[in-house]
Amino acid sequence: MKLPFSVNTLFGAFLVASLISFKGIGQQAITSSLNETINLVLDIKATGVKIQPTMYGIFFEDINFAADGGLYAEMVKNRSFEFLDSKMGWLEPNSKKLSLNNQSGYLSPIKYAGQNTNHTYARVEVKGLNYELINEGFRGMGVKKDAKYNLTIDAKKFSGDITKIKFQLIDENGSSIGEASIIPNSGIWKNYEAQLIASKTVMKAQLKITFEGTGKIDLDMISLFPEDTWKGRKKGLRKDIVELLADIRPGFLRFPGGCIVEGRTLARRYQWKKTVGNIEDREILVNRWNTEFSHKPAPDYYQSFGLGFFEYFQLSEDLVASPLPILSCGIACQFNTGELVPMDELDPYVQDALDLIEFANGSISTSWGKLRASMGHPEPFNLKYLGIGNEQWGEAYIERYEIFHKAIKAKYPEIILVSGSGPFPDGDYFEYGWEELKKLNVEIVDEHYYRPPQWFRDNANRYDSYDRTGPKVFAGEYAAHPKDVADGPKENNWEAALSEAAFMTGLERNADVVNLTSYAPLMAHVDAFQWAPDMIWFNNLESYGTANYHVQKLYGNNPGTDLLAITQDGKAVTGQNNVYASAVKDVIKKEIIIKLVNTSNRPKNIAVNLSGYKLKSKAKIIVLSHTNLMAVNTFENPFAISPQETQYGLKGKKAEINLQPNSFTVLKFNF
Ligand code: AHR
Repeated sequence: MKLPFSVNTLFGAFLVASLISFKGIGQQAITSSLNETINLVLDIKATGVKIQPTMYGIFFEDINFAADGGLYAEMVKNRSFEFLDSKMGWLEPNSKKLSLNNQSGYLSPIKYAGQNTNHTYARVEVKGLNYELINEGFRGMGVKKDAKYNLTIDAKKFSGDITKIKFQLIDENGSSIGEASIIPNSGIWKNYEAQLIASKTVMKAQLKITFEGTGKIDLDMISLFPEDTWKGRKKGLRKDIVELLADIRPGFLRFPGGCIVEGRTLARRYQWKKTVGNIEDREILVNRWNTEFSHKPAPDYYQSFGLGFFEYFQLSEDLVASPLPILSCGIACQFNTGELVPMDELDPYVQDALDLIEFANGSISTSWGKLRASMGHPEPFNLKYLGIGNEQWGEAYIERYEIFHKAIKAKYPEIILVSGSGPFPDGDYFEYGWEELKKLNVEIVDEHYYRPPQWFRDNANRYDSYDRTGPKVFAGEYAAHPKDVADGPKENNWEAALSEAAFMTGLERNADVVNLTSYAPLMAHVDAFQWAPDMIWFNNLESYGTANYHVQKLYGNNPGTDLLAITQDGKAVTGQNNVYASAVKDVIKKEIIIKLVNTSNRPKNIAVNLSGYKLKSKAKIIVLSHTNLMAVNTFENPFAISPQETQYGLKGKKAEINLQPNSFTVLKFNF
């Protein structure tokens, strides 16, 4: 199978997918009459299948401005003048207006002599008072009234006498809404700090820099962060977004991709070693999503790696999620160049994998463990999983994977390796990948599917027939892509989310095979996205969870510990009468949790036979629903589709409930 992958490459893949025949939920056959009761039976005996603590996780990739401009709270774009166009993101309004000889000042990018990482700094010559340097931020800077913003800058006086540098946050009209200044006083590089307090909330503020005195001064690493970050960490992560992630209670955190792992060329692959240590020494890289899709160019999209592998492990720890890093296997994105590392030159790639394990878990007497400790985390990060390659396919992948597998297992037999089955959930690449990986006796195979909502409803039984003795499955990237919907947040409509909820009953029911699952992509800046739908949308000030997010959160918050069987006429409930069901027991919380999805536009009477259980009569019912399948959450109405919890009184041995049309219901009983 070959796709036209010069296509706006990956986008082409999901366009193709969305052309597959589509049947709206409303048109589904309704085989039960209006008042007929659907009788389900919950088997009291546990199936013997444990739900893995990793079952419902999250997958972070720096796409859609998810890192720089998103989760990583830096507000200054191109803070170290390292973009290919060193002045990108920087404006000099007054400089441009004047003739060359009569400029008020100007900025010249200068290369450091002999530096390999932070290559460039800015030399600013100030000739007149009205010289202004403005940073436009990532589609602006979001500032909140009364909030504090911490500025840091490296400066070195070169000539003349610049006596003061003033920093102002300015609103859309150019008016100052907070300022601070520093006094440069050194002829060698020195770091200065200042704090600005915003007097107004502004979505698209900018940072204006002006100077007192005249002369030349060198500047680098001009950085501005909100003080109020996640856990109050300096130069940390956006608190509102991490809170949304934490609320899911994810079992794992896959990072950093996605195609970003692979790079369009090998030279531009993600290299974790370049993302740790001092922030100013992390060499920036053009983000691979920068111009991937011609209809969504983002030429200012780079990776500063301020959110690098240390911050990733730290975030996993904060979220109590198992880290699951994915590394390049020596194949650049096969939708782009597909460049291959020759087999006899694979060693450095394998070494990167071994060193990452040492960075995460090694004692502080090892060289990578020592670096981790120097960054503030002497304790190991308890890495258990490692993925080799993202969406690779064909023989080239299998032979490279095998080399990694042997080397890693020889040194770290306890590390569980994740392999991949390519970009599609079926077809030649997929089948070949699975066949070969089975021969290698791999532990976990990653599967990806971006398909229309109907596919998800039709595939709730996908894993029922999987080989119970083969590798486990990681449903590593999936999302229902609705058809005929405007590109963007509207794609996160209720039909898509409900279809995913239905499909996920099948993931849960097959928890003996499916051990990890994650929706993709995780998040998107509403003014800078390349790919939709996404689980979380954000702008410079706010973020919200989509309907799909709430589905993930309901599963993530109610995973249970042991699988139970719930059946209709002795069969799994996979869409008969448009009803889907799965059930688990939580032996720690002493709960029985039943998930029920009704994808019909009529209510459904359900009776669940609970004979054999001694359940408390006071139970909970949580319902996620909307009357309009096209409905979405928005910044204005972020909870339009959100779970509603009420009490449920159990009478006798049968739980009788009326499922709302197009709804996802979680019933929770205590024992
Ligand atoms: O999630 C977006 C992209 O989809 C990922 O980078 C890639 O793995 C898949 O093709």
